Amino acid sequence: MKKILITGGAGFIGSHVVRLFVAKYVDYQIYNLDALTYAGNLENLVDVEKASNYTFVKGDITDENFISELFQLHQFDGVIHLAAESHVDRSIEDPMAFVKTNVIGTVNLLNAARKIWHGNFEGKMFYHISTDEVYGSLGAEGLFTETTAYDPNSPYSASKASSDHFVRAYGETYGLPYVLTNCSNNYGPNHFPEKLIPLFINNIIHNKPLPVYGDGNYTRDWLFVIDHARAIDLVFHTGKNHETYNIGGFNEWKNIDLVRLLCGIMDTKLGRESGESSKLITYVKDRPGHDLRYAIDASKINTALGWSPSVTFEQGLEITVNWYLNNSDWLSHITSGEYAAYYEKQYQ
Ligand code: NAD
Ligand code: DAU
Repeated sequence: MKKILITGGAGFIGSHVVRLFVAKYVDYQIYNLDALTYAGNLENLVDVEKASNYTFVKGDITDENFISELFQLHQFDGVIHLAAESHVDRSIEDPMAFVKTNVIGTVNLLNAARKIWHGNFEGKMFYHISTDEVYGSLGAEGLFTETTAYDPNSPYSASKASSDHFVRAYGETYGLPYVLTNCSNNYGPNHFPEKLIPLFINNIIHNKPLPVYGDGNYTRDWLFVIDHARAIDLVFHTGKNHETYNIGGFNEWKNIDLVRLLCGIMDTKLGRESGESSKLITYVKDRPGHDLRYAIDASKINTALGWSPSVTFEQGLEITVNWYLNNSDWLSHITSGEYAAYYEKQYQ
């Protein structure tokens, strides 16, 4: 039996990875380690919580002793590391929280893995989940490849870039087996409503302004979260040791075009007149250091491992919008409490 530690499994992407692994690998024991910050939500995992191959552990990756003892106790064979502070706007307000979790937390995990594996790396793997934001911003042309130079612009992306460097350094210095992926913007069910798509779905439902930063001409490459989880499964099992793979949706959208598309879908779903939701669009002050464009060249993972997205953007958005409309309790549990105070401060 393999013992796999998934960190950040109560968050958006992590919950989809946990669900996939628990269902698909019944002979693995899956441990989900999560501190349950504002972004961690066990409601994301009610359907797997009673599975016999699943264990939830509440704990903080920044706690060195706790992490060391957890690894000693369970002797994990593999780590899939997703736990992070993940929101760019919050990193502008409080960079140190990002340094602690994303950098120090990652190094704690690397140290703990190195200690229990102590040079015997057969069948072991440390998988670090990262972001395309480490590459900085593209102009109008070009794509991020695995060899694009790191050039992070936000405290969030700087902390993720730093953690990526530590993972590579542990590979080079100690021979730690690792794989690393840098993925583009995810969307889908269970996405915390501080991020563009779920925030705007929630605001449209409640007839609240849709705060578009700057002129709205910023471009992101959107990937359905379940396709990211499929890629993570594939890389964990078949990725080459010490390799990086970029993951993307082949799906670039300017924010303003995406928002208009979403407004149209929501008008239909909510039985509103065409054009009604787009009246909520409000241009607000720009995000400092806002990256103009992200776009991934995912040809390496496609050619080497045979991965490609399984749904179109239209299909993925349909599933996503339906999920939010059918899970109003999930949304309202989040939008009360701590998140309400954040929203008030961020958008005044
Ligand atoms: P998220 O914010 O939804 O979830 C993060 C999870 O980590 C939460 O459950 C939270 O409780 C947990 N966590 C935070 N700090 C912790 C700590 N100190 N100890 C233990 N657990 C802690 O994030 P997400 O969007 O699901 O992103 C997951 C990972 O994927 C991150 O590493 C992120 O950088 C990366 N990523 C995200 C995207 C995206 O579009 N969302 C794209 C590419 C890469
Ligand atoms: O590219 C991968 C990254 O995608 C991940 O590493 C991050 O964890 C994830 O949060 C996401 O970062 P972005 O900053 O691209 O996502 P966000 O949803 O915050 O913003 C998407 C775009 O929408 C961006 O250009 C900023 C803009 N935006 C966002 C918000 C929250 C707005 O115009 N208004 C808003 O209110």
